[in-house]
Amino acid sequence: MPRFALLLLLACLGRPAWARPDGPALYARHCAACHGADLAGQPRWNRANAAGRLPAPPLDGSGHAWQHSDAALAEMVAHSMAATAPPGYQTDMPAFAGVLSAAEIAAVVDYVKSRWPLGTRASQALLNPDGAAAFARIMAQAGPDENWTFPPECLPPGSRLGD
Ligand code: HEC
Repeated sequence: MPRFALLLLLACLGRPAWARPDGPALYARHCAACHGADLAGQPRWNRANAAGRLPAPPLDGSGHAWQHSDAALAEMVAHSMAATAPPGYQTDMPAFAGVLSAAEIAAVVDYVKSRWPLGTRASQALLNPDGAAAFARIMAQAGPDENWTFPPECLPPGSRLGD
């Protein structure tokens, strides 16, 4: 086959394999309805609603998503709470396996993390296998005068912070 025909064929096969999925667009399409266009989550997210289920938590760094490694976040997006919740646990978080590819899930998780403050990103990075190196990389982005803080304390669902 002449080389140009091969190139044409590759171009016609659609998005090249090396193109990264568009995390913000995927978030807007698949997640924003519950977690909010601004990632702020639903009101009273850490208290069960009338149906006895938890509302969608914030993904903007103010909740506790940062207390999960990249692998755990991807697992929750792919299979909802199946791996972490007790059997029979009722949740409104959908499972996206079969809807989104692994690369799309990684891109949406990357987008979510990109919205976190620096200290929150650095703390979450420590939970990954390459944690120490990733932590150092993120902190290197903070100049000596960067005013960063560690993330807010994690409060388990149902704890009372004052209504
Ligand atoms: C139909 C509503 C809905 C949609 C759509 C949805 N979620 Fe959720 N999500 C929830 C709810 C509700 C929870 C809390 C579930 C629980 O703890 O029982 C949750 C929990 C999560 C968590 C765990 C957060 C934490 O603090 O531990 C992550 C991460 C998450 N969702 C990411 C996503 C992503 C990424 C998408 C889009 C690909 C998405 N969700 C789409 C409702 C939704």
